[in-house]
Amino acid sequence: MKLWGGRFTEETDKLVEQYTSSIAFDQRLAEVDIEGSIAHAKMLGATGIIAREEADALVAGLEALLADVRRGAVSFRVEDEDIHMNVERLLHERLGPVAGKLHTARSRNDQVALDMHLYMRRAAAETLAGIRALQEALVEQADRHLGVVIPGYTHLQRAQPVLLSHHLLAYFWMLERDAERMADVIRRTDRMPLGAGALAGTTLPIDREFVMRELGFTQLYENSLDAVSDRDYLLDYLSAASILMMHLSRFSEEMILWMSEEFGWLELADAYCTGSSMMPQKKNPDVPELVRGKTGRVYGHLLGLLTVMKGLPLAYNKDLQEDKEGVFDTIDTVLPALTLFTGMVRTMQIREQRLATAFDRDFSNATDVADYLVQKGVPFRQAHEIVGKLVLHAVQTGTNLAGLPLEVYEAASPAFGPDIYDAIALHRVVNARNVRGGTGLEAVTRQLAIAREVLAEA
Ligand code: ARG
Repeated sequence: MKLWGGRFTEETDKLVEQYTSSIAFDQRLAEVDIEGSIAHAKMLGATGIIAREEADALVAGLEALLADVRRGAVSFRVEDEDIHMNVERLLHERLGPVAGKLHTARSRNDQVALDMHLYMRRAAAETLAGIRALQEALVEQADRHLGVVIPGYTHLQRAQPVLLSHHLLAYFWMLERDAERMADVIRRTDRMPLGAGALAGTTLPIDREFVMRELGFTQLYENSLDAVSDRDYLLDYLSAASILMMHLSRFSEEMILWMSEEFGWLELADAYCTGSSMMPQKKNPDVPELVRGKTGRVYGHLLGLLTVMKGLPLAYNKDLQEDKEGVFDTIDTVLPALTLFTGMVRTMQIREQRLATAFDRDFSNATDVADYLVQKGVPFRQAHEIVGKLVLHAVQTGTNLAGLPLEVYEAASPAFGPDIYDAIALHRVVNARNVRGGTGLEAVTRQLAIAREVLAEA
């Protein structure tokens, strides 16, 4: 017997039953569904819509059911379609007819909206905590390696040397904005939809503020049609999660590159790598590769839900049931990615000796040679041309800028003197960039302090 069976004379087709059922995936909502129902039942009692004793019986029954759900002692049925009707059936089995009073002044449309708000609020808070942990790990590593210089790139061609800590902190700030976006998702999810009914509200004297407070929301949806039919707070999460995964994917790509023998700057801990079934020497960076790969499915879920939503007329349409799997899969993708990344960053080893030789045949101090000339009064354009020729000469003679004899410098411009070699030494080059936000040691030390403050205030 269906809960909505009164109007029907024939049985539901079996395939229709399977096709329309969501219990296979929305059973994840079991706990929040029951928590929402407990608040609703309390409100029904407090307003006198049902008797106090009836409300107490409902609350006690729901609490017992919640405990059973938490220890996995409950089974759901496809014939009951979704989590809401499964919970109601289970409650009916336990309490008898009084269970039939729970759905007073409520529709599954506002109920599912409430469930998803409760679920999303928790998941976004966990995501935010995951981001914070990864930021901590980055600050730790930036602190540990303060002073280590790496080549910086544009176009993946050597550009200018930078501090490794500066590079790591770049990800810290990307994650800081991801954290802001996640906090924004939590704010936007803080709106209570119950009371919207199927679409138009209810004739019964409910108390929406009661339910709002009971469930820890601070705002109500002011329009019942909006409350049951929009999913923009889920799109906010999917979009924030997509941007977060994009950042993790870029970081993954760099870890993979840096771990290759060609770079050789980084060693990931064994615990985060896997081997090859054929090649005994292999140690593969599977975790960053998978994070990079799984970024695709998160983008897919964002586009999927945007596409489900476009063109939907107000108010509820069954299409909206399609909001769940993509959101759940995104949560299941993002949370472990953050946990794994945090462990990976915390345990990664920087191959400092290898990095010390990274600049042997390198021209990333060329801008500094030009700046040297500028300081001696040569116009920058002319300096650029002179240094370009010096680079060409060095390439042709198999050396770098520090290896060119003084005569070559002096022949290129009378502005050069023997102090040129000091001016282009690696640490001089890096540490000359102490503008706020720059890669100089002093600037990065200040940046690290600001990053720590940000975390302390978070
Ligand atoms: N399982 C449904 C969903 O996830 C719940 C709401 C169903 N409402 C309805 N009128 N069929 O969207």
